[in-house]
Amino acid sequence: MPAKNALVAVDGQSAELRLRSGTMGPDVLDIGLLYKQTRMFTYDPGFTSTASCESKITYIDGDEGVLLHRGYPIEQLAEHGDFLEVCYLLLYGELPTAAQKKDFDYRVTHHTMVHEQMSRFFTGFRRDAHPMAVMCGCVGALSAFYHDSTDITDPHQRMVASLRMIAKMPTLAAMAYKYHIGQPFVYPKNDLDYASNFLRMCFAVPCEEYVVNPVLARAMDRIFILHADHEQNASTSTVRLAGSSGANPFACIAAGIACLWGPAHGGANEAALNMLNEIGTVDHIPEYIARAKDKNDPFRLMGFGHRVYKNYDPRAKIMQKTTHEVLGELGIKDDPLLEVAMELERIALTDEYFIEKKLYPNIDFYSGITLKALGFPTTMFTVLFALARTVGWIAQWNEMIEDPEQRIGRPRQLYVGEPRREYVRAPHR
Ligand code: CMC
Repeated sequence: MPAKNALVAVDGQSAELRLRSGTMGPDVLDIGLLYKQTRMFTYDPGFTSTASCESKITYIDGDEGVLLHRGYPIEQLAEHGDFLEVCYLLLYGELPTAAQKKDFDYRVTHHTMVHEQMSRFFTGFRRDAHPMAVMCGCVGALSAFYHDSTDITDPHQRMVASLRMIAKMPTLAAMAYKYHIGQPFVYPKNDLDYASNFLRMCFAVPCEEYVVNPVLARAMDRIFILHADHEQNASTSTVRLAGSSGANPFACIAAGIACLWGPAHGGANEAALNMLNEIGTVDHIPEYIARAKDKNDPFRLMGFGHRVYKNYDPRAKIMQKTTHEVLGELGIKDDPLLEVAMELERIALTDEYFIEKKLYPNIDFYSGITLKALGFPTTMFTVLFALARTVGWIAQWNEMIEDPEQRIGRPRQLYVGEPRREYVRAPHR
């Protein structure tokens, strides 16, 4: 098929731009030569119309509510797979054979301990520090401990760093939690699966036997799967941008964690639960719906809306089912928060404002209720998101390093400040 091109002509300057097609999704206009040919940049704050890279990892169709990892629908992965299988898929591109899975599980499991000196890092923080602040610091600090996996030009070191990060994030997250509540750190236990080990490191205490509830462990694992990757979102783009300068992988993931913390991104799960608590009872909902619609009120319904999904977030549907499974297992009936959540969802889905703007519940709407039922305080919610997203960040980082088109990320700007002017010494200076 002959290559399709697009002609852009402005003020007598013209450029022929290459149209590129992926396997799925809209075509893209390759503007790489635009400046060279026309001395003009494009302007796209928030990157609403800009693809920043080629990727084979995740595909989202926001209008249809579709999310695929390496071609596999998220619903099928969440139903039939486990988190480490999804990690393998994201990292290597294919589902593992039984032998590959066994080997991968073994390798991740045997990297879960962190250098003993890392524990001193935690004591440098105040006990009331937000665990995300602790995570930004401690994950960044990993690069000071694992020098033998920071050479990004060596594929072997990159893979060791990737496994270390996937393996150590639960340990660091659990340590951040234990430090927060003043309990002793619990070391990882290698005969447990990834999610069970994490629950044990969070909730076991030395004075009692801890028995993992398999229903809750499965729910935890599914939450990890649902958060594993989401194409070029803000934190992933941050990781890629940080990595484009050649920074080491631990530093790049720390940058991703910092970006994820914001309430418009990963911080939304914490914000959503705080909002449900603030609403309190079903009779207060109309007041909050009215505030969300009021242009003069900065309030937004947390857990609603998405830059890409203009349909139901497919992850939210699975999350809703998981929420009910967890509440059922724990015998939590008539939970007032769930009641508020369900009524809020019902009203929002039938309200003209939300329908017109295509604001559907996103994953964060239901994940908060589930995590609370599992026993996590709201301050840990975004930490759990970071733990699960680490594999997506690291897979995208590896893909970027291996991309022959990769260059340092350097956006341009439309300068609207003062034109050149001469410095005049003021008498008082
Ligand atoms: N409540 C009320 N109005 C909203 C909301 C909301 N949650 N979200 C968007 N709108 C309105 C917004 O005011 C705007 O109205 P108008 O066109 O009249 O100015 C319109 O919908 C489009 O919104 P936008 O801010 O231009 O959309 P965006 O793509 O820049 O923002 C978003 C996407 C997720 C930041 C936003 O929907 C939001 O702030 N939602 C609440 C926070 C949240 O739940 N974030 C989690 C996202 S999913 C997890 C993740 O990927 O991190």
